[in-house]
Amino acid sequence: MTSISDEDPLQIPLTFLTAASTHSLPTLRDLTKSHPALASAASTQYGQSALHLAVTAIEDIHERAPTAPETDPWANAVESVKILLQSGAVWNELDCEGKTPGCVAWDMLQERKRKLAARETGEKERVEKEVEALGRVYEVIVEAGVRAEVLLARMEELGLGGGAEESDEEEEEGKDKEDEKETLQDEKPEEDGEKEIEGPDKKKQKLDTAPDTTVDVVDVNSTDYLTSKLEYGTSKAQTTLLDSDSNGVMMSWETKIMQESVTHLIPPAPSTSPPSPFRILNVGFGLGIIDTAIQARLTSYPNAHHIISEAHPDVLQHLRETGWYNKSNVTIIPGRWQDSIDALISAAYDPLPSSSSTPGSGYDAIYFDTFAEPYTALKQFFSELVISSMSPTGRFGFFHGLGADRRVAYDVYTKVVEMDLWDAGLGVEWWEVEVEEVVREETWRGVRRRYWDVGGVYRGPVCRFLAVGEEEEEEE
Ligand SMILES: C[S@@+](CC[C@H](N)C(=O)[O-])C[C@H]1O[C@@H](n2cnc3c(N)ncnc32)[C@H](O)[C@@H]1O
Repeated sequence: MTSISDEDPLQIPLTFLTAASTHSLPTLRDLTKSHPALASAASTQYGQSALHLAVTAIEDIHERAPTAPETDPWANAVESVKILLQSGAVWNELDCEGKTPGCVAWDMLQERKRKLAARETGEKERVEKEVEALGRVYEVIVEAGVRAEVLLARMEELGLGGGAEESDEEEEEGKDKEDEKETLQDEKPEEDGEKEIEGPDKKKQKLDTAPDTTVDVVDVNSTDYLTSKLEYGTSKAQTTLLDSDSNGVMMSWETKIMQESVTHLIPPAPSTSPPSPFRILNVGFGLGIIDTAIQARLTSYPNAHHIISEAHPDVLQHLRETGWYNKSNVTIIPGRWQDSIDALISAAYDPLPSSSSTPGSGYDAIYFDTFAEPYTALKQFFSELVISSMSPTGRFGFFHGLGADRRVAYDVYTKVVEMDLWDAGLGVEWWEVEVEEVVREETWRGVRRRYWDVGGVYRGPVCRFLAVGEEEEEEE
């Protein structure tokens, strides 16, 4: 009998890929030890990595000849995925259809769940086993993605050239610097299951480490955005705010999300005398959907102050033309929030316009929804501004579009942001709302790029200081 070590070296990748697609644990363990680069490097002629194969092979398990009676082939599938990820398999590697292993697992899982729900399958028991294995595999891939993202962010913080995100300064240094950065990244080896693929254009906060498969990749940066010409428009389908390249800055399909966010941020006014004050900060006006919803909710708070931070000159002009500067309970702070930190903090503690002397005790609510900024901007915002200006019982929300052009990325970044919020002393609860329009083709007509592609359910955050959340849980 020949052992793997006697094999023709050219055969080894093939043996490895075959082991992945048959969930052969001993071979996978041997080869990942003897050839550490295999897990991240080997792929089929169709661009499927060993991880893709281990996932898709779950549908063949029932056809394979049973191995030892005591082995559970479904558990072997999950174990194979774990071995590959622990050995450096890239969690967000794309196959030739532009799918990551997590996307493949997710699609297979949904298909089987749908069949079970519709009672379409005569092999209920087998499909249930597949659902269980695929669900576990998906979780394992998400966990690996979170680990890789966190590690990459830490490396970047330590100046070890982790990711591709730009700091403000880098962004301002212009294109030359960007080109230089790209070259450096090309040379960096893959580490810990993270592929250096150019990031998705994110409508709001982009996460540069997520894969992007769109041919027409748009990478809007804050500097270019803030100097571009914007257009407010209304079509049959909806109202939009587009930049000069037809990127959707804000679209009215998000209305339900904005309204729900307000419901979670502003509790019903208590019937006290005098009425309780309420102070809210919104960063990013856009179409003013959330600000309109805030104003409607604040009618029950006669003693309220609504602060708006907005950076784009065209949006500020729109605010002037539509009367927002004349509202008695509204203060507009023009400019980037990063350049207005002192003014934004002062506005949290100044006496309310309606009471000339009582100082404020911080914002009761803060919402953040900017455009063309990296994830690090959101992180800086909550780690610095929220914690120094929110009242101890305040609530913080933001538009969660992180990784929203790909299911697995959305799930990874939900966990990443949760961890970063926790580091900043904030606990998060997620609420969900269904948005039918987002899955309709006509919603995206005339917009350069679909920035939301994870189905019709939006996951929204409401964050509070950890000590407050914990006390309230104890009381319950
Ligand atoms: C997605 S829109 C906000 C939409 C808003 N939530 C609504 O309901 O219509 C983003 C807004 O943030 C503004 N913005 C972008 N970067 C900013 C920054 N650094 N500081 C303040 N505003 C910013 C943009 O000009 C734009 O008006």
